[in-house]
Amino acid sequence: MAAVMSTDQRREDLEILAKKKFNVRIQSISYLAEDILAFEFVDPDGANLLPFTAGAHIDVHLPSGAIRQYSLCNDPTETHRYVVAVLREVKSRGGSAALHDEVRPGTELTISQPRNHFALSKSASRHVLLAGGIGVTPMMSMVAELTRRGEPFHLYYCTRSPIRTAFLPQVMTLVEKGMATVAHDNGNPENGLVLDEVLTHYTPGNQLYYCGPAGFLDAVEAAAAHWPDEAKHCERFAVAPTDLNAAEPEAQTGFDIKLASTGETYHVEPGRTIVDVLFDNGVDIDVSCEEGYCGTCMTRYLAGHPEHRDTVLDAEDRQEFVMVCCARSKSESEPLVLDI
Ligand code: FES
Repeated sequence: MAAVMSTDQRREDLEILAKKKFNVRIQSISYLAEDILAFEFVDPDGANLLPFTAGAHIDVHLPSGAIRQYSLCNDPTETHRYVVAVLREVKSRGGSAALHDEVRPGTELTISQPRNHFALSKSASRHVLLAGGIGVTPMMSMVAELTRRGEPFHLYYCTRSPIRTAFLPQVMTLVEKGMATVAHDNGNPENGLVLDEVLTHYTPGNQLYYCGPAGFLDAVEAAAAHWPDEAKHCERFAVAPTDLNAAEPEAQTGFDIKLASTGETYHVEPGRTIVDVLFDNGVDIDVSCEEGYCGTCMTRYLAGHPEHRDTVLDAEDRQEFVMVCCARSKSESEPLVLDI
């Protein structure tokens, strides 16, 4: 992902990742489409929430202890609430099913501060938003922001059918203005958006944002292969295949980690993760995906040579942070010193 945002903004967002959490109350739950509900979170005491930018997401800590990431879909100028839209996944690992079945208006949950790895460019001549299914959620906050800025954009939105299309009334208003295109594929991707046509021409200054199921993202990446990396922004809530994260444990080497606060050093064996070893030694790190794509476990390091295996951090972030659920070390002799 090549996020285009100012260094200061990026630093600020990264600092926010200092694992701060707070409680919110579910103010309302509303039906958006078949199997899709919107959850409105507010401060239990009625205070304003922390500001967020279009494209941001939050970690939601579920009653089971699981942590899931959801994009904020409301207007970023709203300070009194966060809204997320949640699709009940057929193969839910407890996240979407728990939200659909177990929480009610009035339930209090813990969430993280918003963070944004999918921010809008501030210097685009035109924004192209591509959403597959529930991947439309960050796009709705982007649409609100771009409308306010008066910047040109077009939203392409592909879903299975009208009854499974969240935000359909709002998007149809954009369609009438020539600012959106909606396609329904009825389960056959060949009937959906013709991505090769949408993405054929890259015009300098255009910025592309895409979010949706893994197959949709892979198709967009193939169709946009000729777009420059700095013009492409992807929000992926599933692991992307890489040579490194496909490596078998036998191909890994062990390495040492050191805690800056205590000076304790621990060995991470092949096949084990930094998070595993920290947990064994009484250091609890919040994790969610455990595959390097959600950002929950991001930790600052102070020395060493990490081998990054995540799909969240860009080159600059990697000078300072590691995702400890999946990162390893390039050095067997020098410890990776973590700011813990
Ligand atoms: S737990 Fe998701 S990136 Fe580490």
